[in-house]
Amino acid sequence: MSGEEGLLVRRIREGTVIDHIPAGRALAVLRILGITGQEGLRVAVVMNVESRKLGRKDIVKIEGRLLSPEELNKIALVAPTATINIVKGYHVVEKKKVELPEVLENILRCPNPTCITRKPREPVKPRFRLISRRPVRYQCAYCGTIIEESEIVEQLAAWQR
Ligand code: CTP
Ligand code: ZN
Repeated sequence: MSGEEGLLVRRIREGTVIDHIPAGRALAVLRILGITGQEGLRVAVVMNVESRKLGRKDIVKIEGRLLSPEELNKIALVAPTATINIVKGYHVVEKKKVELPEVLENILRCPNPTCITRKPREPVKPRFRLISRRPVRYQCAYCGTIIEESEIVEQLAAWQR
């Protein structure tokens, strides 16, 4: 049972707790999940609390919502250290680590404006290969452009997609 955040937010009954998010990335995680607050889910966001593993971390608790494998992959891109806790009847019944996909298709846009994936008439799907985990770095399979973690967070956390 973790300490600090207990002071701020109580335990949930059913749902998902995304723990060990790098400090400052909780809102990016919510945007990736498309959670705005308008859907009426009960959500707790805890930012910049002490963590033994990370120094500081963020936590997102979502009541009554499970996450798809695609959503978990996208969370990994902005929060590779995240732990996903599935909570039922107040107990953590499953704990998973997120994993960075080796290949990303149709998730990130190549930053190179002359890349074939950016040509309006040629429907080539953007495709990236994982080349580094810490920091997260992917490379375009077509033009070789490398996309850095900060750019990945910017793209995925944008309100308009
Ligand atoms: N949690 C919650 N509601 C519950 C159970 C757990 O909000 N009913 C939260 C805890 O507050 C914690 C996370 O889910 O942020 C993981 O819970 P737990 O496994 O009990 O904590 P730790 O042992 O600290 O987890 P770890 O080893 O992954 O750091
Ligand atoms: Zn490219």
